[in-house]
Amino acid sequence: MSVLFATSEAYPLIKTGGLADVSGALPAALTELGVDVRLVLPRYGDLALREDQTTEHLARLDVLGQPVDILHTVMPDSGVRVYLVDHPTFSARQGNPYMGPDGNSWHDNPDRFALFARAAVAVATGEVDPDWHPDVVHANDWQTGLIPALLHEAEKPQTVFTLHNLAYQGVFDRSTFERLGLPWSLWRPDGVEFWGNMSFIKGGIVFADRITTVSPNYAREIQTAEFGYGLDGLLRHRSDALVGILNGIGSDWDPEIDPALVTPYSHDNLDGKATNKAALQKELGLPIRDDVPLIVHVGRLVEQKGIDLVIQALSMLGQRDVQFACLGSGERRFEQALRARAEADPERIAVRIGYDEGLAHRLEGGGDAFIMPSRFEPCGLNQLYSLKYGTVPIVHSVGGLADTVTPVTPATLRDATATGIVMSHVDVTSILWSIDEFAALFKRPDDLMQVRQQAMAQEYDWGASARSYLELYQAISNAETK
Ligand code: ADP
Ligand code: GLC
Repeated sequence: MSVLFATSEAYPLIKTGGLADVSGALPAALTELGVDVRLVLPRYGDLALREDQTTEHLARLDVLGQPVDILHTVMPDSGVRVYLVDHPTFSARQGNPYMGPDGNSWHDNPDRFALFARAAVAVATGEVDPDWHPDVVHANDWQTGLIPALLHEAEKPQTVFTLHNLAYQGVFDRSTFERLGLPWSLWRPDGVEFWGNMSFIKGGIVFADRITTVSPNYAREIQTAEFGYGLDGLLRHRSDALVGILNGIGSDWDPEIDPALVTPYSHDNLDGKATNKAALQKELGLPIRDDVPLIVHVGRLVEQKGIDLVIQALSMLGQRDVQFACLGSGERRFEQALRARAEADPERIAVRIGYDEGLAHRLEGGGDAFIMPSRFEPCGLNQLYSLKYGTVPIVHSVGGLADTVTPVTPATLRDATATGIVMSHVDVTSILWSIDEFAALFKRPDDLMQVRQQAMAQEYDWGASARSYLELYQAISNAETK
């Protein structure tokens, strides 16, 4: 089985969120199952290539009259091969792959990702390496949505399209469609046309042989008007081809071997967690106290994650004896509001704005609980990391969060299945309620230990998910017709 995995970000080369984690870990897990999986990724200016990681030039393509170079490199730990699509609209820009330093999307994103899609199609059809013809192309999110559309007419390869987040659709006006030189046959409601505009994500949803999303619950939710963003009808229409496969946890998230922690700890010996908590409180300038619950958060500071509600709740803490520590970057208004909360309440609140992989690990290691009140969450990775680190997830019952966290109730404490605090609604009142619930659990050390250990016993490694993807690839490549 050979698979070309097309993605706009992949850890450790470039990351803004969970898509990068998946694109780093899933191909590695598939490789272990014997799949010849190779990545295709834009060659951004800021790729974090290791010093000893070489790139070699493979081919120069002509994409609608523009020269595009295809380079080749190998992922440092997994050995997964990577085709890098080199064009100045990627390589001459630093920082975030999708937006400029002003926080606005690059104006030419449709041109950049249409070019990327065409280059990926060239790799998929043997134009770059005549000896390699993948059985399947696995595309991810709107940035790669045109790939299944462009490959639709071809006999081979088959295509899989994964929705990591339906909220980002890549919708642009009709003149963009005209400028991109796409076949007019795609300009139809059952193509990429979407209420008079063009939609990149529709290219994947309409034309892929199989659609997946990153949790079974989200696969159901996106077929409803509430979570479907206008695409629920189309998704219901394609429900036979749609399946939810949960994400897993990459091998670099493991408290037993995590180099970012001051002391490792494990399911059977959680002593080290207290040491990590003290070190984290010291690092963040919070009072070093083991008797206060430390609730943490890491994430993109956007409405999806409910960070606006957390900010409101932080100004309503009253006399509550809790600490809150947060790392994130995103919308300026949330960054500013969080900084202001920390300045006003430095004994209880610490905030770091920016992107910091090491601190993200230390927050999981040292936190008592991790709050994730997302309005919607296709899968969510931080609650999985939190389970693994015995850092009690506090989540809204939605998407993958509902699939992975078992609520603390008298019954689940009795039968020892509880793994986290679950809010049935997401609003400020629920957030304050969840903080109180956790603070109460924190005062019952035996229950707390049971919940932590039950959380740590959950298995969300990539092996099982990779096997589900492999079965899917096998099912479509064995099918006789497209
Ligand atoms: P999403 O993909 O919607 O952002 P996920 O929970 O799937 O949400 O994945 C987010 C990933 O990005 C996690 O690995 C998380 O630790 C990481 N992350 C997000 N923001 C930051 C940050 N500011 N610093 C370090 N890591 C971050
Ligand atoms: C998206 C989703 C997140 C998911 C990630 C990886 O960014 O918001 O829930 O975990 O993709 O699939």
